Amino acid sequence: MDELDTVVDALAEAQLVVAATGAGMSRESGIHTFREAQEGLWERYNPEELATRQGFQEHPARVWGWYNYRRGLIAQRAPHAGHRALAELEELVPKVVVVTQNIDGFHRDAGSSNVLEVHGNIHRFKCFEQDHPVELDEPVSDSNGDLEPPRCPRCGSLIRPDVVWFGEMLPPGVFQDAEAASSACDVMLVVGTSGMVQPAANLPLVASASGAMVVEVNVEPSQLTHYVDVFLEGPAGQILPALVARLAARHS
Ligand code: APR
Repeated sequence: MDELDTVVDALAEAQLVVAATGAGMSRESGIHTFREAQEGLWERYNPEELATRQGFQEHPARVWGWYNYRRGLIAQRAPHAGHRALAELEELVPKVVVVTQNIDGFHRDAGSSNVLEVHGNIHRFKCFEQDHPVELDEPVSDSNGDLEPPRCPRCGSLIRPDVVWFGEMLPPGVFQDAEAASSACDVMLVVGTSGMVQPAANLPLVASASGAMVVEVNVEPSQLTHYVDVFLEGPAGQILPALVARLAARHS
């Protein structure tokens, strides 16, 4: 029996499956990871200048422009077969929860119904001072980037993307739900994450300590590979559809 079948056996018995995904999950949609995306005009800045409260306070138009630029890139892309496979998994397993570090919204776009976005969502907005949620038509900046952000209609403070910046707390309820799902799941699929950013990187260890089978899907070993039960080497867009197809064949 090959390793895929080992995982399919566990999925066939599972009541709850958690898929914990990182930037590698969207790589085959053509979405660069945060650092890869910093190209052209944006490569002169370091991440701390573009994704921190201080960076926004010092240069709001630059940070607002950076996220509009990335939102423009995302708008040209779409979920791939791996995202769709996780949505299809919901028909084959009693419950699936997706915990994602990605802010592109692709899991929901692909049809996943239980998605915990622990680092927020680039298509959502809030104000800087009071976290008031703000509905905005999606602003997309022109190529030069800098664009003054609008102001909150309730308190007048600048509007920012509703994403987690370096040094910020994760949305409290969301991360607690992610921890609860990780400690209750029978199988965790860890897909496309280097396992370097806490506290998201701790979730596979929570799952493992709770007795789940932890399966990593990655094109190369990561910081987590040492701790997982099964390492499936390859791109998410191929491995996840293969797993789901074999599981579906068990049901037919
Ligand atoms: N399929 C599966 N894995 C892939 C693929 C692919 N097609 N392509 C790349 N990977 C893997 C890489 O080998 C790497 O291990 O995806 C991982 C991407 O790692 P990072 O770029 O560090 O992304 P991530 O782990 O999500 O951490 C980035 O910074 O931008 C913030 O909020 C973001 O928490 C996130 C962190």
